[in-house]
Amino acid sequence: MSPREKLGEFALNSVYQIDCLEAMKKIPNRSVDLIITDPPYGDNCNYGRWNKKIANNQHPLINCIALFEFQRILKNNAVVYNFTSWKHYPFLTEFVMRYTCFKIRHMVVCNKKGMKLGYGFRNKHELILVLEKGKGKYFLKNFANVIDFDTITHTKTSHPHKKPEKIIERLVNHSSKEDDIVLDPFLGGGTTAAVCKKLNRNFLGFEIDNHYFSQACKKIAEI
Ligand SMILES: C[S@@+](CC[C@H](N)C(=O)[O-])C[C@H]1O[C@@H](n2cnc3c(N)ncnc32)[C@H](O)[C@@H]1O
Repeated sequence: MSPREKLGEFALNSVYQIDCLEAMKKIPNRSVDLIITDPPYGDNCNYGRWNKKIANNQHPLINCIALFEFQRILKNNAVVYNFTSWKHYPFLTEFVMRYTCFKIRHMVVCNKKGMKLGYGFRNKHELILVLEKGKGKYFLKNFANVIDFDTITHTKTSHPHKKPEKIIERLVNHSSKEDDIVLDPFLGGGTTAAVCKKLNRNFLGFEIDNHYFSQACKKIAEI
């Protein structure tokens, strides 16, 4: 097999039902071109009108622990797009500055267009922390730190933190080229992997939850 078909012991363009904190230990140093991920926010709550749970969401340090592996496995001069929440980000940014080699480049706010405002303080934005190892690579023009996107609808079975493909597409196009390797270690319903397949990037994804792992496999197969 050529080196492009494997990453450590993992086949590229595959997703695994596995604990990513263990799995990432098996990925070689400086081998990943881009990380796009949406870890549990550690706020120990359930989400949406169906009160859905997310594995490890009771664990406030899970994102921080993952960052140690991100900094090891990411190539130099590359970027991590780390979704987070307004409650968690002050702690996360403090942790990044004190304990990692990453430079915080920015916080991108994704504004959900067309959202119905049924009750007080509905969450109308997503936050993405942009972290650079060395000098970040950016290919798109006109990329501001507030981006608009259409709200997506959730069903009883969909992932409560499913991200819009349009946002992930922009991130993939902004910081990677065709054939680059993109990792999403907290894959959820498979958005990052599916977008990468569509855009001819090599992807690798990890997801611990059986239900969301199955959704991810289905989504990728449909591309
Ligand atoms: C916020 S969600 C990601 C949603 C994703 N952005 C999407 O579009 O569907 C975080 C995911 O991480 C998974 N997870 C939690 N702990 C994990 C771990 N240790 N290893 C792998 N996945 C984990 C959860 O099951 C959950 O699906």
